[in-house]
Amino acid sequence: MPGFRKGYVRLGPNKVVMPLYYLEFAERIEDMKVRDSDIWVISHPKTGTTWTQEMAWVIGNDLDFEGAKTPLPERFPFLDHSPLFDYTDILPKIPDFKLPDFVNDSVSYIENMPSPRYIKTHLPWELLPKQIRDGSKKPKIIYVARNAKDTCVSYYHHCKLLEGYTGNFEDYCKLFLGGSLCFAPFWPHVLNFWKRRDEQNILFLKFEDLKKDLPGVIKKTADFLGKDLNEDQVEVLSNHLSFASMKNNRAVNYEAATEINRKFNLVLAEGQFMRSGKVGNYKEVMSPELIDKFDCWIQENLAGSGLTF
Ligand code: A3P
Repeated sequence: MPGFRKGYVRLGPNKVVMPLYYLEFAERIEDMKVRDSDIWVISHPKTGTTWTQEMAWVIGNDLDFEGAKTPLPERFPFLDHSPLFDYTDILPKIPDFKLPDFVNDSVSYIENMPSPRYIKTHLPWELLPKQIRDGSKKPKIIYVARNAKDTCVSYYHHCKLLEGYTGNFEDYCKLFLGGSLCFAPFWPHVLNFWKRRDEQNILFLKFEDLKKDLPGVIKKTADFLGKDLNEDQVEVLSNHLSFASMKNNRAVNYEAATEINRKFNLVLAEGQFMRSGKVGNYKEVMSPELIDKFDCWIQENLAGSGLTF
């Protein structure tokens, strides 16, 4: 794939795109011991994962804003972090730098966490640990989805900022529509959770609903996690989760990671992880023809599913 880091492989019935390096971890993830007490946030990249993680963690930890000052990736590690980023070429060049444990081997880090564990993953249903797929363990799963056009725009900026993508936006859209980006194809990722949305241990959220009615989504999530929040608490948490607040919160805004990447020349573009935070941002960058193309593709893939954005 032009402009990206290393080689890729396609896995499973939907031919999910994963970095080759993922294979080093695939078996450990497949056989991972899941706990019923786990709280997972699962998503396609750029759909509001970080936002949902922060919401779930703070609710689950009874509004412990002091504890929430710990960087999010440490309290809510990313299962597929190590399998995604192969630092083996880079590390010998920077001997004074030590990767944090949750990056160095995210799978072991998670295995050693006390319960209840908070776990983020972008893995699609078919690559989740066997114990989740076969239903022998039922952790709480919050899946967050976002409309495909904004997801694509956000993913484009993300890939320029953190994945070394050097191509242009139009080519990037072709890769997105063609299911060639990491964690693609997009629709099976979303629909495999959408069809399970009524299962007791699954909560299906949409980025657009967090934007439209954050207090409502907070209440729904608290209910799902078995927590009671009064109106004042919902308001305090809504403020904590506002875009302005998260953009300035170093525990969640990935500035530290971006700075490290810049230091080691891994970032080729200007920008920030907390970028626009809008619904409909695609209208500012997509041509009418491109929007039409996306709309046809969306219609085709959502037909009969009952899912709308
Ligand atoms: P944009 O690039 O459109 O701004 P993820 O966490 O899955 O990588 O998603 C990142 C996207 O969520 C980015 O979208 C980011 O700005 C947005 N986001 C994160 N926190 C947000 C918040 N509190 N309010 C609105 N958008 C938020």
